[in-house]
Amino acid sequence: MSRPLARYIWMDGELIPWKEAKVHVLTHALHYGTGVFEGIRAYPSGNKGLMIFRLQDHMERMIRSGRVYHLNVKYSVKELCNIVIEVLRKNEIHKSAYIRPLIFVGDGGFGLNYKNHPIRLAIAAFPLQAYFDKDGVKVCISSWRRISENSLPPSVKATGNYLNSAVAKMEAQNNGYDEAILLDRNGYVSEGTGENIFLVKNGNLFTPSISSSILEGVTRDTVITLARDNGIDVKESSVSRLDLYNCDEAFLTGTAAEVTPILGVDNIQIGKGSVGKVTSSLKKSFMNAVNGEEKRYRNWLTSVY
Ligand SMILES: Cc1ncc(COP(=O)(O)O)c(C=O)c1O
Repeated sequence: MSRPLARYIWMDGELIPWKEAKVHVLTHALHYGTGVFEGIRAYPSGNKGLMIFRLQDHMERMIRSGRVYHLNVKYSVKELCNIVIEVLRKNEIHKSAYIRPLIFVGDGGFGLNYKNHPIRLAIAAFPLQAYFDKDGVKVCISSWRRISENSLPPSVKATGNYLNSAVAKMEAQNNGYDEAILLDRNGYVSEGTGENIFLVKNGNLFTPSISSSILEGVTRDTVITLARDNGIDVKESSVSRLDLYNCDEAFLTGTAAEVTPILGVDNIQIGKGSVGKVTSSLKKSFMNAVNGEEKRYRNWLTSVY
């Protein structure tokens, strides 16, 4: 990303020009995947307004992720949230944007024990529209399994985890699909490479539980809340590959992906092969919540301007 997408990036305590936000090639995180991060979105609202969606929840998850790998920063959640606001304001971003905070181990030698290495923090923000540039996606079951709790915990949003996501994504796209769905170590449906997954069957919603090697998505939690508030029953359970083939509707959720309908799995059509009623209504509720159009969910929003 050498082409600047914004003017400044916040790095280790200061805002610096995008092009100067560099690291040394011997940076520990570059060699060993020693980092944790977040992906957050901000949405325009009203006349020139901008709202960040569930900022505090994301920052709390990053702090929790960091604790697991001894990647602790000196900033509180509140301070981190304020830095994000500062980055958006300094860059004068008023459009739909993506925010990427990253805590990583800096340059301190080759040793795996990084207890004396610098722990660095960068926060970037840049305009971003849709992650999938289509109304619905075709997915496949990956030949790769999702990483598991006792090796690389998927509930921790660590940079190293994304090698698992990247190989699955590349395999899927090389085979003509938009996205991969990974199964967990027991063969149950886990999640997409950067999204959680939901199924609709007989009007009820099902999603793999946290014991299926998932990242507990903020969007997943949002959709569960919206569904229950709309009288839809939601079950967090084990989901099999056949449950997925035989469901009425399916969709992905994620900060980047938002609510993205799944139209087919392994070339098997899901439902009628078009966006289903429940998916489309939840997608609408989700967009209303992030855009600040739904009063009762305004506490999920942090105002930038
Ligand atoms: C592997 C994985 N699962 C699920 C998600 C969805 O999480 P969220 O809704 O918090 O963005 C993401 C995105 O961060 C992800 O990378």
